Amino acid sequence: MKVLVEKHKLATRWFHWLNFPILSLMIYSGLLIYWANDVYTVGVGGLTVFHFFPDWVYESLGLGRKLSKGMALHFAFGWLFAFNGIAYVLYTALSGEWRELVPQKKSFAEALEVVKHDLGLKVPLPAQGNYNAAQRITYSAIIVMGALSLISGLAIYKPIQLNWLAGLLGGYKAARFEHFWLTMGYLGFFLIHIGQVIKAGWPNFRSMVTGFDLADAAEVKNVE
Ligand code: HEM
Repeated sequence: MKVLVEKHKLATRWFHWLNFPILSLMIYSGLLIYWANDVYTVGVGGLTVFHFFPDWVYESLGLGRKLSKGMALHFAFGWLFAFNGIAYVLYTALSGEWRELVPQKKSFAEALEVVKHDLGLKVPLPAQGNYNAAQRITYSAIIVMGALSLISGLAIYKPIQLNWLAGLLGGYKAARFEHFWLTMGYLGFFLIHIGQVIKAGWPNFRSMVTGFDLADAAEVKNVE
C-alpha cells in the first residue's frame, strides 16, 4: 500500500519557486546589461576561440539594445534576490534543514557513484535522504554562488562607497569578471538541473510543488 510522506517543507518550496523566476530575471537583465560592453572571450595567446557572445545570440534571444531596461530590472529584482536568498539561508540554519543539505565527508566519493548511475552505468545509488550526495554538493555550491553574486554585484554597484568590498574581490575589474562568470555558472547549473529533474520524473517534480511524495507503507514503517 502507498502512503503520503512529506518530502519538502512549505517554506523550502516557497523559497525555491520564488528563486526560479527571480534568478531567471537576474540572468536575463544581466545579459541585457552585458550586451552594451561584451568584453569577455576565451582564447589562447592572441587567438580568440569564443567571444561571449556572437551577434546571433543577442539577435535570436532579443538581448540587444535594451541596456536601460536591463539596468532597471536588475537593480529592482536584485533586492528581491538578496532578501529571498538571505531569508532562505536563515530559515535553513534555524530550522536545522542545513543538516540535509550541507555535504558530508562521504559526499564527494558518493557523488561520483551518483554521476556514474545517472550516466546509465550499472552502479547502484548510495542510500540517501531527501538529497543525494551530488545534490548536496550542487545545492550548497549554488548558495555560495548566490552570496558571491550579491557581494560582487554590490561591489560593482557602488565601487566608490564600497571600495573595501571591491578591494576584497581583487578590484572593480575582477569583481565584474567574477559577477559575469558566476552567471555563466548559473546557466550551466540550469541545464544540468533541468536535465536531472526530467530524468528523476514526474513524482519528484510533483513533490517540489505539493510537498508530498508517495512511498511504500512498509518502507515508511521500517524507517520509523
Ligand atoms: C544571481 C543574481 C545575479 C545575476 C545572475 C547577475 C548577472 C549580471 C550580469 C550577467 C551582468 C553583466 C556583467 C557585465 O557587464 O560584465 C550584471 C551586471 C551588474 N550587476 Fe548583476 N547579477 C546578479 C545579482 C546582482 C545583485 C544582487 C546586484 C546588486 C546590486 C547586482 C549588480 C550588478 C551591477 C551593478 C552590474 C553592472 C551594471 C553596469 O555595468 O552598469 N547584480 N549582473
